[in-house]
Amino acid sequence: MTVKIFDKPEIQDFLKTLSGLDKEGGSPRVKEIVHRLMSDLFKAIDDLDITPDEYWTGIAWLNEIGAAGQAGLISPGLGLDHFIDERLDAIDEAIGIKNGTPRTIEGPLYVAGAPVSTGFARLDDGTDANGHTLIMHGTVYDSDGSPLPGALVEVWHCDTRGFYSHFDPTGQQAPFNMRRTIIADDKGRYKFQSILPHGYGVPPGSPTERLLSALGRHGQRPAHIHFFISADGHRKLTTQINIAGDPLLHDDFAYATRDGLVPDVTERVDEASIKANNLDGPFAEIEFDIQLTHLVDGVDNQLNEQRKRVAA
Ligand code: DHB
Ligand code: FE
Repeated sequence: MTVKIFDKPEIQDFLKTLSGLDKEGGSPRVKEIVHRLMSDLFKAIDDLDITPDEYWTGIAWLNEIGAAGQAGLISPGLGLDHFIDERLDAIDEAIGIKNGTPRTIEGPLYVAGAPVSTGFARLDDGTDANGHTLIMHGTVYDSDGSPLPGALVEVWHCDTRGFYSHFDPTGQQAPFNMRRTIIADDKGRYKFQSILPHGYGVPPGSPTERLLSALGRHGQRPAHIHFFISADGHRKLTTQINIAGDPLLHDDFAYATRDGLVPDVTERVDEASIKANNLDGPFAEIEFDIQLTHLVDGVDNQLNEQRKRVAA
């Protein structure tokens, strides 16, 4: 039996009441957002004839997502993180800002407080037996092409099992393994030694994976390395690079792959390169320069305080 009650005046009044729009106190912005979201949800229940059983299945799933701390995992999976990036791109375009290095999603697995060094850092602690050595380096530039000495390059990635330190279900990794902050040297250069990460997958059997499965989708990401790059007078850039050649490069459940963020990976086997990097065998090399953009009227118009609070 299909019924439609959304447009009834009592229902429209009820939406205003439950959003507090008929009261003085509270936040006008929160009221506006809740009113819109609840209206859209009521309308969807009406239009799609969502049954009580379907509705309560959804509530149980939300409880599971919350209990597992996975709201930040399903958010990229449902494309919201990428959609927000697309909106930031559109805002930049509207105010005439060109991003030399594209932004892409942060993901849920950043941890504040990684060890800091200048110019160079080794990210991994050498315990990943399957690790293939990676040397990655580049220069951080201003939007007009001058190097930015002292820029902060925060970098984090997972191991060859796809696990991040602090979120490793086996508990095997030391705190801050494969997480560092590098201060760019006097020529704006950063460099690090680590291992090539492998792809990542959402926890098997998790509520995040169950929803993706119901959509006929997987919860895998291609191998990638995360960055925050910041410098005085510039906007903080949140981005990632992908490891070229990964079979999931264009099949990322989090939709983070973007043109300009897939640098070449060069395999170095010659003695001179190996020696020059104080290594004892072949390694992969990635060169990746980064371009920041200036503050807008003296402020970072895209700074995300909430994510900083969550990570700290
Ligand atoms: C997720 C994990 C990541 O490592 C990432 O970069 C983005 C998203 C996730 O589990 O949702
Ligand atoms: Fe990641």
